[in-house]
Amino acid sequence: MNTGKVYLKQNVLMQPLFNQWYAWSNLISPVTAPMYIANLHLKVMQSFVSTPQVHMSAVKNPAMLGGPFMNYDASRVPDIKDLLDRTIKTQGHLIKFAEAVQSLDKMLSAEADGASLEPFYPRVPDILRGYVELVYDLNNHPSMRFIENLLYKSPYYCESSQSVALSLVTDDSRPFVFSTPWLAGEGWLQLNMPFKDERLDYLFKMRATPQPYEEVRELFQIGPEDEETFATFFTDEAPKTAERYTGDSVRIRYFGHACILFETKDVSILIDPVISYRYDNGIDRYTFSELPETIDYVLITHNHQDHAMFETLIQLRHKIKNLVVPRSNSGSLMDPSLRVLLQNIGFKNVREIDEMETIEVADGSILGLPFLGEHADLNIRTKMAHLVQLKGKSVLCAADSNNIEPRLYEHIHDAVGDVDTVFIGMECDGAPMSWLYGPLLTKPLVRKMDQSRRFDGSNCEKAIDLVTKLHARAVYVYAMGQEPWLTFLTSIKYTPESRPIVESDKLVEYCRSQNLPSERLFGCKELSFASQAAMA
Ligand SMILES: [Fe+2]
Ligand SMILES: [Fe+2]
Repeated sequence: MNTGKVYLKQNVLMQPLFNQWYAWSNLISPVTAPMYIANLHLKVMQSFVSTPQVHMSAVKNPAMLGGPFMNYDASRVPDIKDLLDRTIKTQGHLIKFAEAVQSLDKMLSAEADGASLEPFYPRVPDILRGYVELVYDLNNHPSMRFIENLLYKSPYYCESSQSVALSLVTDDSRPFVFSTPWLAGEGWLQLNMPFKDERLDYLFKMRATPQPYEEVRELFQIGPEDEETFATFFTDEAPKTAERYTGDSVRIRYFGHACILFETKDVSILIDPVISYRYDNGIDRYTFSELPETIDYVLITHNHQDHAMFETLIQLRHKIKNLVVPRSNSGSLMDPSLRVLLQNIGFKNVREIDEMETIEVADGSILGLPFLGEHADLNIRTKMAHLVQLKGKSVLCAADSNNIEPRLYEHIHDAVGDVDTVFIGMECDGAPMSWLYGPLLTKPLVRKMDQSRRFDGSNCEKAIDLVTKLHARAVYVYAMGQEPWLTFLTSIKYTPESRPIVESDKLVEYCRSQNLPSERLFGCKELSFASQAAMA
C-alpha cells in the first residue's frame, strides 16, 4: 500500500454487530436487548448446535426465508458453540434481566388487582429494582415502565458487546442477517469499538476526503495480522463526487426502498436512509457518492430494521446536521425511545417530531403526520409519516402507513389541504407479530391471534382512498423491499402473483386511468415537479 493519501473504497461494507448479531434498534436498547438475547439468540444457537441439519435444510427452502434458521453448515457448529458459551458467560446479567422482566410481569398480572402498587416494590426482582416504575392504566392493568436513560448508564447497556465488521462487497447476495450471527471469515475485519466511537466518522469521511494511510492504520491500531485485509479497503483513486443541486425547483431522488433525497439549492432532506454500496451489478442505483457533502435533515419514519438502519446511519453520521425521529412511548418494552438510543450511539442534534408538529426548514417545512397500523396493533408511537413541503409543493412519505381508518385522511386533508405527491408503501401481507416482537412477549400468543396481527401496509383499496382524500397529483409506490440489496434485511422475494405486487399494480393502473403520473419504484429514479407536470 502506498504511503500517500487514500480514500475508503465505495464498496467497503460495514456491519454493526452486537454480540456478533446484526445490530438493530432492539439489540441496542438496554430495555429490549436482554429479551432478544434470552428469547431468541440463545434458542437459535442452541438449536443449531444440537441439530445443524434442520437449519441447513430450512435455509435451502425459499418458504422458510426469514425464519429462525442459521445460514451455516455443520462445520460452524464449534464456532457457534463458542459464541453460545461466551454469550452465557459475558451476558449472564442480561439473561437474568430478561428472566426478571418475565417474573415481574407474571407477578403483576397475577396479583396487582387495582390496589396500590407500592407494596410490590420490595418484591421486584433485585436486578430490576430502581430501574422500573410500576404503573396501572386507567383500567387497572398493571405494567412496568423502564427508566431508559438510567439503564443506558447501567451494566445492562453493553457497549463492550458492540463492534463493526468491515469487508469488500461485490454483489447483492448478502444472506439474511437476523437469524444468523456474524462469524469471522476471510476478507473480513472486526473492529471492537462502540458505535459512538468517533474513529468511525473519520473512516467514513474518507469515502470523499483522503487521509494518509499510515495515519488511518495507526488510528485503528491495526496489527500485522490484519494489515493485509485492512489495506484492501483503501484506494488512491478519487471517487466521482456528487454535484450539488443548483436548480430553482426541487429534485427528488429515490435511492431504493423507502429512502428518498429531497434537494433544493438551499436544503437537503433524506428520509429513511438505506444506501447501497457501489459495485457493478447491472441494476442502476444511487450510492453513498450521490449524497451531498452534508445533509441538513435526516428523517426516520419508524423503528423497523429497513427504515431505522444503523449500517447506513452510522456511515452518514458525520454529514447529518439534524436527525428527526418520531416521538416514542419512552419507557415501554415494546416502544423504547429511538431518540435516546441514537444519542447514546453518538448522534448529535437528534430531535423528536410529534403528530401535526412542524419543523421549519429553508424553502419550506417538515410536518409529522399520523402513521396508523403496521405494528401488530401494539401501542407503539415511534412511527410518523412526513409531509415535506418545499418551494410551495408538498410530498407525503407515508412509508408503511396502513389506511385502516380512512377518516384520518379526511381530517388531514382538512388541516393541510391537497398533497402534490404521495409515496406509499404497499407491503400488504406483512409478517405476523411474533416475527419481530416475539422475543418481547412475556406470555405466549396463540397462533390465530399472532397471524391476525401483522406488519401490513395498505392494499389497493386503502391506498386509493388515501390518494383520493388527499387529492394527490402523482402517486409512487415505494418501500416494497424489492431491491436485491435489501433482501438481507427484509427476506422479501416477490413473484408476479404476490399480493403486494398485484395490489400495487392495480393502484398504479387506477392512478394512470385518472391521468396521474404513477409507478412502482425500483432501483433508482429522479423526479422533479417540472417533470411530473409534463407527464400529467
Ligand atoms: Fe415497517
Ligand atoms: Fe418497511
